[in-house]
Amino acid sequence: MSAMQAVVLAAGKGTRMRSEKPKVLHEVLGRTLLDCVLDTLSQAGVRKPVLVVGAGADQVKRHTAGRVTPVLQSVQRGTGHAVMMTRKALAGFKGDILIWPGDMPLVKLETLKSFIRAHRENKCDVSVLSSVREDPKSYGRILRANGAFCGIREELDAAEHEKNIKEVNTGVYLFKSDKLFSSLALIKPENQKNELYLTDTIEILDGQGAKVEAFPFAAAEEGQGVNSRVDLAMVMEKLNQREIAAHQAAGVTFVSPEQTFVAPGVKIGPDTTVYPWCYIEKGVTIGSGCEIGPFAKIRKGTVLGNGVTVGSFVEVNRSKLGNKVQAKHLAYLGDAIIGDETNIGAGTITANYDGRNKHVTRIGKKVLVGSDTVFVAPVSVDDFAKTGAGAVVRGRVKKGEVVVGVPARPIKSLKASKSK
Ligand code: UD1
Ligand code: CA
Repeated sequence: MSAMQAVVLAAGKGTRMRSEKPKVLHEVLGRTLLDCVLDTLSQAGVRKPVLVVGAGADQVKRHTAGRVTPVLQSVQRGTGHAVMMTRKALAGFKGDILIWPGDMPLVKLETLKSFIRAHRENKCDVSVLSSVREDPKSYGRILRANGAFCGIREELDAAEHEKNIKEVNTGVYLFKSDKLFSSLALIKPENQKNELYLTDTIEILDGQGAKVEAFPFAAAEEGQGVNSRVDLAMVMEKLNQREIAAHQAAGVTFVSPEQTFVAPGVKIGPDTTVYPWCYIEKGVTIGSGCEIGPFAKIRKGTVLGNGVTVGSFVEVNRSKLGNKVQAKHLAYLGDAIIGDETNIGAGTITANYDGRNKHVTRIGKKVLVGSDTVFVAPVSVDDFAKTGAGAVVRGRVKKGEVVVGVPARPIKSLKASKSK
């Protein structure tokens, strides 16, 4: 791909979110809205986009440190004004500039790629990614004269007949760099909001005879921006549906997809069944033939082998469970490493946090953990050991040993060779 730079707009306050937090830092399934955009851009091969920050600038900069070139728009005077702020950061750059609002996380990589391809194949000066919406309200409308794209009209400035137009601006554009900054110099805040609109550059460039195109490649869903908490929930639902559909295609059963949350990047093996009301965070790997839930929470850094059961009301956090480990009910397993075929009784807790540090619980193979056992980490339990109901286990339990009580003490030693 020839030279391309990206500008992500994220200076707006997001008033309608009614939040202390800048809008683009609100999360969907473990990623901020901004992360969703930056991830798609990086998958498209765009490195280090220029990020326009303003409201909550420090927080946004901290969150994106090292991943973007931030520029400050100290007063929010509109999207056109926001892009003007990038002039210095992009000085000397000759090529296409992709502009993307930071509150629009649903545009798919394939859509972005076909948009870039169409812009280049048609040798456009400016291209707008548009989408057709049954309800176009609050979006800028795509104006066409005899089919030819000639401008964008914002909702507030639109005449009645323009409000009926269903093709809308997603807010994603590709501009040739020289055309972008030459036209931005000409826009005026002559609209209902008294803002400098980026969208006004289209009419200017069209008037100058530049080649402008709108490509309606974005599905209505992809064009969804986030302005409110309702939008945020909608975006979350869509992203979740996409993840679940991909796992279904790869052979995973979801008993109730709408009641299950799976973050992007989670790996699940075929013939695993996920029961309702499970929350599976990013960075989790689940093997094949597992049974998960109902009501299970599987957190970051967890790896489950094959044939594992993580049943009802079980939380697993940063843990590694071997093949056929069973934790069927009511347990917390945090910072635990558990060997194959170990059974975790109901009510088992790894007490992994001492108020300052997290500690590891190591449990070997074919261990029988009695109901209501507490492992006070750091603790280590060797293969074939057993713990009695209600045991509070610290230190080390040897191979084949049976420990009971508070604190747990061995009651007998089974010959390890016998129990094999
Ligand atoms: C904008 C478009 C509209 C399009 C819609 C798609 C304009 C004038 N209108 O409207 O045609 O249909 O997006 O969602 O561009 N921002 C800044 N600085 C500012 C103002 C905005 O950085 O001074 C950022 C915001 O943080 C946001 C993005 O630009 O990420 C879009 O701004 P927003 O106010 O949400 O624009 P819309 O009214 O939605
Ligand atoms: Ca918006």
